[in-house]
Amino acid sequence: MKIDILTVLPELLESPFAHSMLKRAKDKGLLEIRIHNLRQWAVNEYGQIDDYQYGGGAGMVMMPEPLARAIEALSKDNSYSQIIYMTPDGERLNQSIANQLSMQENLLLICGHYKGIDQRIRDQFVTREISIGDYVLSGGELAAAVLVDAIGRLLPGVLNDETSALFDSFQDNLLAPPAYTRPADFRGSKVPDILLSGDPKKIEDWRHEESLRRTAARRPDLLEED
Ligand code: ADE
Repeated sequence: MKIDILTVLPELLESPFAHSMLKRAKDKGLLEIRIHNLRQWAVNEYGQIDDYQYGGGAGMVMMPEPLARAIEALSKDNSYSQIIYMTPDGERLNQSIANQLSMQENLLLICGHYKGIDQRIRDQFVTREISIGDYVLSGGELAAAVLVDAIGRLLPGVLNDETSALFDSFQDNLLAPPAYTRPADFRGSKVPDILLSGDPKKIEDWRHEESLRRTAARRPDLLEED
């Protein structure tokens, strides 16, 4: 899978992909991430990519020309299955969207800044708009990093049995059950006996019950979705 990211702050995206699972995905050749500085396609030698809003109001808007040039240039060498704009007014990211996107071959992510990007780019080029939650970040970069992480770890071969995504929270619309490691008695607080029983069926049933209980208590909305 190849993911291109268009940003005005490429430095912000150096570290998130250099560690842990995403590093492993890159090292194994399962995921290629390319970060492109939008200023390469700026409208003048000052590197301008934003301008005042028509109609007035505080905050700059990212101009259509640099974005269109960038998307067109990158599309020459890649056929994108989706061109995704990271924005707080997009559809809210969840595990099902991450699963869907992990099956695509080629994605282009656009990170917005300031008051966002000119609406005409959204109308003409963007095929999907994604938010990572109901709060506003200062730019789309951290949101793009979250999306790439959620997708990257699902690519076949990235996780091994021990880290398998099958038992993650949300994978079956349930939160994950509580987890324990050694010692069996931590300052008087004990690991549930069942987990020490060695009976795989009982343990699986207990985990499922705990998942249901936790989901009902913390995220009852998940139990109502299909
Ligand atoms: N850009 C700014 N805030 C964002 C959010 N919550 N999700 C995605 N992109 C964003």
